[in-house]
Parts: sequence; C-alpha cells; structure tokens
Amino acid sequence: MFLQKLRLYNFKNHEEASLIFEGKINCFLGRNGSGKTNLLDAIYYLSFTKSAINPYDLQNINYGQAGFLIKGDFKVEDKQKEVVCSYQQGEKKVIREDEQEGSRFSEHVGKYPVVLIAPQDIELIWDGSELRRRFFDSLISQLDRFYLENLITYNHQLKQRNSLLRAFAEQGKVDSDLLETYDTKLAEAGEYIHKVRKELLISFVPKFNKHYDFLVQEAKEKVDIQYKSDLTGADFISLLRKNRQRDLLLQRTTSGIHRDDFLFTLNEQELKRVGSQGQQKSFLISLKLAEFQTIAEKKNLKPILLLDDIFDKLDDFRIHQLMMLVSQGTFGQMFITDARQGRSEQILKEAGLNARLFVLENRTFKEEWLEI
Ligand SMILES: Nc1ncnc2c1ncn2[C@@H]1O[C@H](COP(=O)(O)OP(=O)(O)OP(=O)(O)O)[C@@H](O)[C@H]1O
Ligand SMILES: [Mg+2]
Repeated sequence: MFLQKLRLYNFKNHEEASLIFEGKINCFLGRNGSGKTNLLDAIYYLSFTKSAINPYDLQNINYGQAGFLIKGDFKVEDKQKEVVCSYQQGEKKVIREDEQEGSRFSEHVGKYPVVLIAPQDIELIWDGSELRRRFFDSLISQLDRFYLENLITYNHQLKQRNSLLRAFAEQGKVDSDLLETYDTKLAEAGEYIHKVRKELLISFVPKFNKHYDFLVQEAKEKVDIQYKSDLTGADFISLLRKNRQRDLLLQRTTSGIHRDDFLFTLNEQELKRVGSQGQQKSFLISLKLAEFQTIAEKKNLKPILLLDDIFDKLDDFRIHQLMMLVSQGTFGQMFITDARQGRSEQILKEAGLNARLFVLENRTFKEEWLEI
C-alpha cells in the first residue's frame, strides 16, 4: 500500500500543503516546531480517522480557521483510492472514500493500516493500563471489525450498567431482572473481547521477542508480555453475579475486561522498575514492529510505517539493526521525521538507501532526492 499524494488544508500549522510521494522512504526534515510530526499525524488521521496526538478536533484546526481537510491518494493492490477526512467547527467529522460519504469509523479503520513509532510511546510503559489496552485494541481493531463493534457495545453497556447501579443506590431499591439483562449483554461482548485479546497475545509475543532479540542482540535480556484479566479462568456472567453486591455498594462494575492489563516484563520483573531507558525504548520499538508484522501477515498488506524522531531514541547499534530491516525490504512505504537533516542523510547513506527529502522551511517544502 502506498500513499501517493497528501493534501492538507488548515490542519494544525499547515494552512495548505500538497505533497507527492514517489519513493519508498520519505523524510520530513526541519526545525523543532516546523510541523514534521503534524504531517505524520495527518497520515495517521487518514487511517484511524483521528489524530494520534490530539483527540480534540477543534484544536487540530489551524488557529483562527473554521475547519480542516486532509486528503490522501492511496494505491492499494493496484487500485486507486481517495480518502478525505474533514472537520468543520460545530459539525460532525466527515470521512469520504472515493467521493462516497458516510463511511463508518468501524468500517474505515483497518483499510489503510499505519504503524506509528513515536516518542510518546513511552507512556505505554509508564501510564496506567488504559493505554496498553488501547494499544492492543487499536491493533486488533485493524484486523477484526467485529472486535471493534464489540468494544463499542461493551463500553456503551458498561456506562449504562454503571448508571443503573447509581440509580438503584439513589432509589434504595434494586431491579434484579433489569440488571440481569444488562449483565447478559455486557458478558456477551466482554467474553468475545477477552477471547480475541488472549488469542492475539499467543501469536504476538513470539514476534515481539524475535524483534527484541534482533534489535538488541543480547541473550541475557528476556522480555515478555503477560495478559492479566479478571476473566482468566472465570466466566464473565458468573463473575458479574458473584460481584453483584459489591458492584451495588460501590455503584460501579468492579470486574470485566475494562480492567484488563498487559504486563510488560524484562527478565521476569516489571519493565517500568528494572528496565534502563534504552531497554524500554527497544521494548517499545519491538512492540510496534510486532504490530507491523501482525498486520502485514493478517492483511497480506504492508502498513505504512511512520517513524517520528526514531533516530533520537536509539544508539548506533540499534539504528544499524533497524536499517538492516529497512534495506532487507521488511517494510513498505515509510515516513521518517528528524530535526537533524545531516544525521538522517548519513544514516540512510550508510545503509545504501535512496530517499525523498522534504525540508520544511518557513511553511514551505524544499524537496530533494537523496541518491546513493
Ligand atoms: N491547531 C493548530 N494551529 C496552528 N498551529 C498548530 C496547531 N496545533 C499545533 N500547532 C503548531 O504546530 C507546531 C508543532 O508541530 P510539530 O509537532 O509537527 O513540530 P515538529 O516539526 O515535529 O517539531 P519537533 O522537531 O520539535 O518534534 C507547534 O508550533 C504548534 O504550535
Ligand atoms: Mg515532532
């Protein structure tokens, strides 16, 4: 899959931009704050119909303007596809594919897969379980539309059930039959999500281990991801019944897949506590490369790889290993940002890779070829 053309109107700091991509490797270069990451974010937006950075679309509109538009021309298996995402202040966001409006979010996600490796990935290690669930949810949603639909149902039912628990507490009486109908719906969606998360990890972890070993080349370091769930060895409906009194008392649903976590470990200890910064970075990149491989295998389509400031995060050896993967043709099209043009040029030259360079300067793009 290739993105051949990207056009932006009033998306963040890009008032108007039109970029044509011919080669496999494209670099966005320029000073801090010039809008390199925003370009990656626009590509991400076309895939996920949302920003990777700012969930509030109002703030993604160029300051003082009324709306933004992102347009991408893709080539997918020899077919031309045009995707447009636009948002006007006060209106609903619109997603159009080949002039056809009204494509649903759950139907669109997964059609134009991208994998983003970015500095904020570190939050996956440091933040609470929600981000880790979101990482795996986003991966699985790209592979399984039914999963995303179940997730939406689950979150909706969970909210409803929690409101019901609060209402019962206020009224001082409980309608057990009504609660039971909510439990059934919640359990049905929850069981499916649990099953798919569990199955995914079985195939994901070996891929992840392989990437970590390749990047790091250090036999002493053993990394792992463990799936922790209330539903392990339990069936959800029984669990809801068992915890009903507690739920009524606390006025919220205290068990379920909304509490799942994925434990990241290094030599069987929590990565957050024992991993060095470099080890944590390698862990995250391996996680994303395993994501790339999983999507590529399941969809028979290489996702677009977005590498935001990747060279900043790695030592020379790891950069070398990563570039080996690039030159072996592991990836398809990729977009790389770097504030240091010389460094990127040198890395690419050393790896023997041609690239198209887009240098952002005073809101314009200077295009160059880096040819070996
Ligand atoms: N809605 C918006 N309207 C106008 N400008 C915006 C908007 N949102 C963000 N920006 C601007 O975009 C700039 C950040 O762009 P971006 O993160 O893409 O920079 P960058 O080139 O990746 O920089 P760095 O090298 O530091 O990572 C900031 O100057 C910010 O003020
Ligand atoms: Mg940036």
